[in-house]
Amino acid sequence: MVGAAARPGSGGRDRLDGVTVRVLVTGAGGQLGTDLVAALSGEVPTAGRRRALLGPEGPGNGVDVIGADHARLPVEDRPAVLEAVLALRPQVVVHAAAWTAVDACEADPDRAFQTNALGTRHVAEAAAIVGAHLVYLSTDYVFDGTSPHPYLEWDETNPLSVYGRSKLAGERECPPGATVVRTSWVCGAYGNNMVKTALRLAAGDGPLRFVDDQHGSPTFTADLAAAIVTLGLDRRPGTFHVTNTGTTTWFGFVQAVLKSAGQDAGRVEPISTAELDPPRPAPRPANSVLDNAALRLCGLPLLPDWQDALGRLVEVVT
Ligand SMILES: NC(=O)c1ccc[n+]([C@@H]2O[C@H](COP(=O)([O-])OP(=O)(O)OC[C@H]3O[C@@H](n4cnc5c(N)ncnc54)[C@H](OP(=O)(O)O)[C@@H]3O)[C@@H](O)[C@H]2O)c1
Repeated sequence: MVGAAARPGSGGRDRLDGVTVRVLVTGAGGQLGTDLVAALSGEVPTAGRRRALLGPEGPGNGVDVIGADHARLPVEDRPAVLEAVLALRPQVVVHAAAWTAVDACEADPDRAFQTNALGTRHVAEAAAIVGAHLVYLSTDYVFDGTSPHPYLEWDETNPLSVYGRSKLAGERECPPGATVVRTSWVCGAYGNNMVKTALRLAAGDGPLRFVDDQHGSPTFTADLAAAIVTLGLDRRPGTFHVTNTGTTTWFGFVQAVLKSAGQDAGRVEPISTAELDPPRPAPRPANSVLDNAALRLCGLPLLPDWQDALGRLVEVVT
């Protein structure tokens, strides 16, 4: 049985049937999971905007949030997942748990697939038994990056890495009515990410070399969490690309981090992926840019520009 703490909402109307909605978040100890629990509790996540995508009221009233971290809900453990979900009987399950160590996944594909694919099978099975809507978090790394254009939700996938293949396998474990949210280059106030890495490296004297031939959209958990709450509580079926607006390279991103922190961005040097020494074990797509077409075509608001979100995050982590 999961030992996670429930965070009761204050009992207002919900978006489903007028009673409180219970939402279970897996991976609640991660950088996105932490902000998801906050957003579902009606709080503004750290470095978030008060009314990001939540509409005038936000979800706070009428939502019971149950955050289950890795220790409390190991998703590869089928009996544990079934027992927890059947006991808690959530109406929505946001499945943010994953093994996200992209390079480590190359050396241990079994663990990658056990967590990201089989774990999702267990969560999907349990959600189906209790009739809960499933929201699955996926990644830009399901694409090979060879397209000259931003990727649409309907484009062919072709992951280059074990991590990407295991996350795509997780997508295939989701039932047709599930919400699949693909995002990219995730950064938040909790956990490790490029913003924190860049600031840590900048505090030393070493060279700051970052690749200038991988393109993507940095995405900030406070804004992403708000969009996931909207999609999940509305039980939107299908795949949605959800990233902050605008694109850059890792080189451009690190320059922007330093600039935002009032430091010398001129210290950052561009290199190519081929120049990385040692090379990274997992290949990355050169083009990770996700067109948020489904959001746009549904008339749903897009996330703010990544530079706006970066400024908010740098303010709280420096
Ligand atoms: N980070 C990115 O750049 C990125 C990009 C695209 C998509 N995503 C996706 O977005 C979601 C959230 O990512 P994130 O950035 O918040 O990553 P994160 O900080 O690594 O959070 C993932 C959480 O899952 C937990 N976890 C790992 N193995 C587990 C298992 N077997 N059972 C239960 N929980 C387990 C981790 O716990 P421990 O740390 O204790 O193991 C961690 O708290 C993931 O689905 C990820 O694939 C992330």
